[in-house]
Amino acid sequence: MKIISKKKLIDNPGMKITEINVSAPHIAAKIKAGEFIVLMVSENGERIPLTVARADQEKGTITIIFQEAGLSTTLLGKLAVGDSLYSIVGPLGHATEIKNYGKVIIVGGGVGIAEIYPVAAALKKAGNHVTTILGARTKAMLILEKELKEVSDELLIATDDGSYGKKGFTTDILKEVLSKGGYSLVYAVGPIPMMKNAASVTRPFNVKTIVSLNAVMVDGTGMCGSCRVTVGGSVKFSCVDGPEFDAHLVEWEELGKRNQIYLEKEKHICKLASGAAPK
Ligand code: FES
Repeated sequence: MKIISKKKLIDNPGMKITEINVSAPHIAAKIKAGEFIVLMVSENGERIPLTVARADQEKGTITIIFQEAGLSTTLLGKLAVGDSLYSIVGPLGHATEIKNYGKVIIVGGGVGIAEIYPVAAALKKAGNHVTTILGARTKAMLILEKELKEVSDELLIATDDGSYGKKGFTTDILKEVLSKGGYSLVYAVGPIPMMKNAASVTRPFNVKTIVSLNAVMVDGTGMCGSCRVTVGGSVKFSCVDGPEFDAHLVEWEELGKRNQIYLEKEKHICKLASGAAPK
């Protein structure tokens, strides 16, 4: 589980997104679009669920793209080429249902773009007409544009500040594209408000909408219950029942609140780790 290569995709004070290539031949041989892995940076570290953006079966490597958003991902970002991860478990979760739907729309926001990449590639390979919509706060925070262009028939971009593509949100573009008609599937990954809005936009068009949820996970194997979400009135565990669910059936308010649970503790730990006095 050695790090073979490392690249900073975004490196500014507001956002750090890093790509690492890790030797993991057993996972590279098996992983499918939509599945995820859980890695540990060190023996006493927390388990971090992450998507594999690419797998190279010949080289036995997997490519992981992550945003430094807390202590564990910050520590992961500090590892260098040649360092080893303590553990990687996977593939976990259910793979995306890949088939020829006809015309599909893939929507990715922020670091969620790393998650849509393998799904877009697999859907394109299955013969779909793929329209991809990417969103970022600003042009400098957009990742994988070139890679997604290669696996899309049409690529559209939205930035919050209008520095690239259309000024506004991915969901504004989604509404425009859906108005043309003929789409059978929307697949969206990004921040919870974005996925929730995508569900609201697609509902009147009656288009099947799948989201991959970033619920808080601990063990990643259905044992702890921390990743539970309510979908269609039933309790589901994101790690073993998902991570993909029908966006029209997800209880978004509950998911949003659950994902805030550890925010204050995380800030406190990060301050301690950086040597700052906690408030
Ligand atoms: S992470 Fe523990 S049940 Fe899903």
